[in-house]
Amino acid sequence: MLQLNNVSHSYDKGKTWAVRDLSLNAKQGEIFGFLGPNGAGKTTTLRMIVGLLPPTSGNILVTDIDVWKNPTAAKKVISFLPDNPNVYERLTGWEYIRFMADIYGVSQEEREQRAERLLTQFEMLHAAPDLISSYSHGMRQKIALTAALIHDPKIIILDEPMVGLDPRSAAILKQLLREHCDRGATVFFSTHILDVAERLCDRVGIINKGYLIAQGTLEELRQGQRTDATLEALFLELTQA
Ligand SMILES: Nc1ncnc2c1ncn2[C@@H]1O[C@H](COP(=O)(O)OP(=O)(O)O)[C@@H](O)[C@H]1O
Ligand SMILES: [Mg+2]
Repeated sequence: MLQLNNVSHSYDKGKTWAVRDLSLNAKQGEIFGFLGPNGAGKTTTLRMIVGLLPPTSGNILVTDIDVWKNPTAAKKVISFLPDNPNVYERLTGWEYIRFMADIYGVSQEEREQRAERLLTQFEMLHAAPDLISSYSHGMRQKIALTAALIHDPKIIILDEPMVGLDPRSAAILKQLLREHCDRGATVFFSTHILDVAERLCDRVGIINKGYLIAQGTLEELRQGQRTDATLEALFLELTQA
């Protein structure tokens, strides 16, 4: 569903590598957690997947579409929530959602239905007519999420989605991502919050200094380690200098 083949990126023409020779795949119906310390290369990887930053080498496939050879087709099936979503302040919540629905060609009926369901789940229905400039950080994130899910994407990419959400909204988001996967979508998200990953993800990949150093289910990662090792213990062991 989402496949990276030997993907690398250098911001300085090959002097240093933000991401190096990274290969991984996330399957249909799966929640994949992309873990790593600050500066590991998570955001760089996500920006390459969604078509914002060209890989220096390697290729990326979403539902068998090459993201960099066929960018428009790829973008139709992907949805991206950046780590700091830049939502248009001068629009109301509803206007922003309709704007995104227009871009993705979502029908009137589908958009109203989906938006109302998502806004209700996020407890944002009352605030949707207000200007985004009046929203708190968490409210902006929830509107950005609603807009990101408005075209019912097959692949949902999120950069540190739990940061800035209150515990209740984070719980709602987790439930929503699980629902999308159960309906056949693939969720790929970065996080440095390990207990979120531990409870939510079907599989995880751990990136450190640009290299993918582990990939698999928690069970698989535990092999060779203490059988009761927490993800945190594994993470610390794998990412130590
Ligand atoms: N726009 C940029 N220009 C130059 N270097 C960058 C840029 N963005 C990120 N980097 C570097 O690339 C590496 C990976 O960063 P990033 O992908 O943001 O990591 P993460 O999201 O895991 O914290 C870091 O060393 C960072 O300093
Ligand atoms: Mg980042």
